[in-house]
Amino acid sequence: MVKTDWLLVILLGLVFLSLEGAEGRKERILGGSPYELAYSAINCRKHSASIKDFGGIGDGKTLNTKAFQKAVNQLSKYASDGGAQLVIPAGHWLTGSFNLTSHFTLFLHKDAVLLASQEINQWPVIDPLPSYGHGRDAPGGRYISLIFGTNLTDVIITGENGTIDGQGALWWQQFHMNKLKYTRPYLIELMHSNKIQISNLTLLNSPSWNIHPVYSSDIIIQGITILAPVTSPNTDGINPDSCTNIKLEDNYIVSGDDCVAVKSGWDEYGIKYGKPTSHLIIKRLTCISPYSAAIALGSEMSGGIQDVRIQDITAHPDRIRNKDQNCLTRDKGINYRDVVAENVSMAGQLDGISGDPFTGICMSNVTIGLAKKSKQNPWACTNIEGN
Ligand SMILES: *[C@@H]1O[C@H](CO)[C@@H](O)[C@H](O)[C@H]1NC(C)=O
Ligand SMILES: *[C@@H]1O[C@H](CO)[C@@H](O)[C@H](O)[C@H]1NC(C)=O
Ligand SMILES: *[C@@H]1O[C@H](CO)[C@@H](O)[C@H](O)[C@H]1NC(C)=O
Ligand SMILES: *[C@@H]1O[C@H](CO)[C@@H](O)[C@H](O)[C@H]1NC(C)=O
Ligand SMILES: *[C@@H]1O[C@H](CO)[C@@H](O)[C@H](O)[C@H]1NC(C)=O
Ligand SMILES: *[C@@H]1O[C@H](CO)[C@@H](O)[C@H](O)[C@H]1NC(C)=O
Repeated sequence: MVKTDWLLVILLGLVFLSLEGAEGRKERILGGSPYELAYSAINCRKHSASIKDFGGIGDGKTLNTKAFQKAVNQLSKYASDGGAQLVIPAGHWLTGSFNLTSHFTLFLHKDAVLLASQEINQWPVIDPLPSYGHGRDAPGGRYISLIFGTNLTDVIITGENGTIDGQGALWWQQFHMNKLKYTRPYLIELMHSNKIQISNLTLLNSPSWNIHPVYSSDIIIQGITILAPVTSPNTDGINPDSCTNIKLEDNYIVSGDDCVAVKSGWDEYGIKYGKPTSHLIIKRLTCISPYSAAIALGSEMSGGIQDVRIQDITAHPDRIRNKDQNCLTRDKGINYRDVVAENVSMAGQLDGISGDPFTGICMSNVTIGLAKKSKQNPWACTNIEGN
């Protein structure tokens, strides 16, 4: 979300303007990662059941909230006995929010569509996040996400590119008309959890953010297509928030806000909670979000951000942004290497904090081709010291 209270903005022209899509990507390897995340073992579960076994009806009209809740509840009994998989067959499965359990796989057939209910009573209200203190859309609580989990381990949400459709238009309208009583729901949120894999799915029209792992670790998000109108409010793609060890790979995002926004809480609440996002790798991301950033560090990064590696990004337009609204966090040691940018109107804008300049910013092997109609001064730097 574009906020007026940024203290710093880094805009760096990055890679290929225009709607080049995946073909425009170029492989560039920036060195190996310090850790490898892979959980092959969690891909097989001893027990499997279909949502139909719990009375689910995939006709696009019948509300299946109870079937989903019953299914997860029953299958949670297998957590200590090899785990369980819930299969969603082809069909349109209308549902309100439901929670996940540990040692569990939610598997969507390629023609399965989870349709989020538009009835407000299908969305219980939960407390604000402790690191935010209050909601983003309204001061109080927040509507629980469509797919929610807390205090879990070993959770997979995957499919053969099956679809989760948030049917967000109604929520966007409420947001624009200032009618929201609570903060809008997300599509997927996992809190206080570890060993998470979200892969091979298409997410459509989320009411707000799409995927929000928070206070969690060991997370892979791979092969996800996220689609929302580029004018839809706050439909961020993937927002790792106070999380550690995260790998985002091969994701394709068209959205109305930042494709990836790295977060760690809000102002005094975020500082007090004190949990940074760290060890994040973003590889092979294609982002189309004309009014926002491909990758934003912040806003809401009061708990800090450490060790973010980004490679092979195709973006339209061309922004990696660092936004911050609190002086207690600052930028040190940012490396930009092997960057090729074409048709760029503004090469870079690096604004430090007056009296607390940024240091240790290094750019090497950066080639920036300016657009015919570029700004007169393609670089704008304030409060930057050293190199
Ligand atoms: C899902 O989890 C939330 C948070 O723990 C809880 O408030 C809610 O009642 C749970 N929903 C169901 C259906 O169990
Ligand atoms: C979930 O984990 C958090 C952090 O460890 C803890 O504070 C909270 O009490 C746990 N909640 C439940 C329902 O176990
Ligand atoms: C998944 O489905 C989306 C939406 O139909 C499509 O754009 C995307 O190319 C598909 N991805 C794969 C890997 O087939
Ligand atoms: C996602 O789908 C691709 C192509 O079908 C497959 O190779 C890959 O193993 C899948 N990934 C996961 C994590 O399921
Ligand atoms: C500089 O970057 C380009 C484009 O990413 C790459 O092809 C080239 O190998 C890099 N050069 C060096 C010396 O790393
Ligand atoms: C450069 O960007 C401008 C404005 O977005 C666009 O009209 C033009 O076609 C682009 N040129 C190339 C060579 O991509």
